[in-house]
Amino acid sequence: MKGNYINLSTHSGINGASGNGNGNGKMSLGKSIKMYLTIFIATTCIYMVLYQYHISREPFAAAEVVKPPLYIITPTYRRPEQLAELTRLGYTLKHVVNLLWLVIEDANKTNPLVAHTLDRIGVPYEYMVAPMPEKYKQTKRAKPRGVSNRNRGLEYLRHNATEGVLYFADDDNTYDISIFEQMRYITKVAMWPVGLVTKTGVSSPIIQGGKLVGFYDGWIGGRRYPVDMAGFAVSVKFLKERPKAQMPFKPGYEEDGFLRSLAPLDNKEIELLADECRDILTWHTQTKKNAPAQALNRTRYKNTNLEYIDKLLVRP
Ligand code: UGA
Ligand code: MN
Repeated sequence: MKGNYINLSTHSGINGASGNGNGNGKMSLGKSIKMYLTIFIATTCIYMVLYQYHISREPFAAAEVVKPPLYIITPTYRRPEQLAELTRLGYTLKHVVNLLWLVIEDANKTNPLVAHTLDRIGVPYEYMVAPMPEKYKQTKRAKPRGVSNRNRGLEYLRHNATEGVLYFADDDNTYDISIFEQMRYITKVAMWPVGLVTKTGVSSPIIQGGKLVGFYDGWIGGRRYPVDMAGFAVSVKFLKERPKAQMPFKPGYEEDGFLRSLAPLDNKEIELLADECRDILTWHTQTKKNAPAQALNRTRYKNTNLEYIDKLLVRP
């Protein structure tokens, strides 16, 4: 062991004595400094190269963060449940990046209470109005609900959007946020199952051997696309290549009419989301209708908080 130690020290640059044979102390110190300097410079160089590499990769990382935009078109209308529905949907959308929420009310003018609710939620939004034409409002038969609103949304996109994806999200449904990340990258039209639709409990494309072979829904009604509004999304570019595409004022045939207006569209081109339609990520939830609130006794409750709450309620 001792011999080894001596041997090592004699070859050591730090001692340096055996290197030049005369054992000059100054020279050995100079050599040591030189060696330390070399190590220091080499290490610094390696760090600099690694840092440059790291910096050069950053723009790629930033590009990945900017995802294609999502345009969510939500028809809404005044009723006791309205603010509650928008609140629930809004906080779902708040989990989704690069999204613009197009909230379009079936009304002649905007409602400050709706605007206030949207502000409070904090999702980027545009709040517009598009009333149902009078002739449909008056009818005793089924009304084309939300059609004016959705067509207004499409018009907005034709003027203001160039890329990304549009989706019709009714204010009363339930949405798993993963469907938004899946629809973001579609190139034409995508479809997937919607739960709680008709007696079948689900409305879904039928997939066999990875191919769309039909549609499963409790009511087919001669539709080419018997799907629910919550079960498809469309690329903005694809929509804009079809300048006439819009939704018809035809109760029960809104989805079918709109999808037909996107022709040419081959079934083979329809992208299948939600694990190739083996999963349910959206539901046609329906909210119990609530009666309008009874009138407040203004004399009895004068100068109380109830005067404020009263302004938030919907009257008959
Ligand atoms: C179902 C479908 O999910 C709708 O997409 C379709 O428009 C509708 O049927 C139809 O065929 O008429 P459903 O749950 O029965 O929807 O209808 P609602 O939820 O009452 O209305 C659909 C959307 O339109 C909602 O976002 C709602 O806020 C809005 N709406 C409803 C209006 O803007 N105005 C109305 O008078 C009623
Ligand atoms: Mn509904």
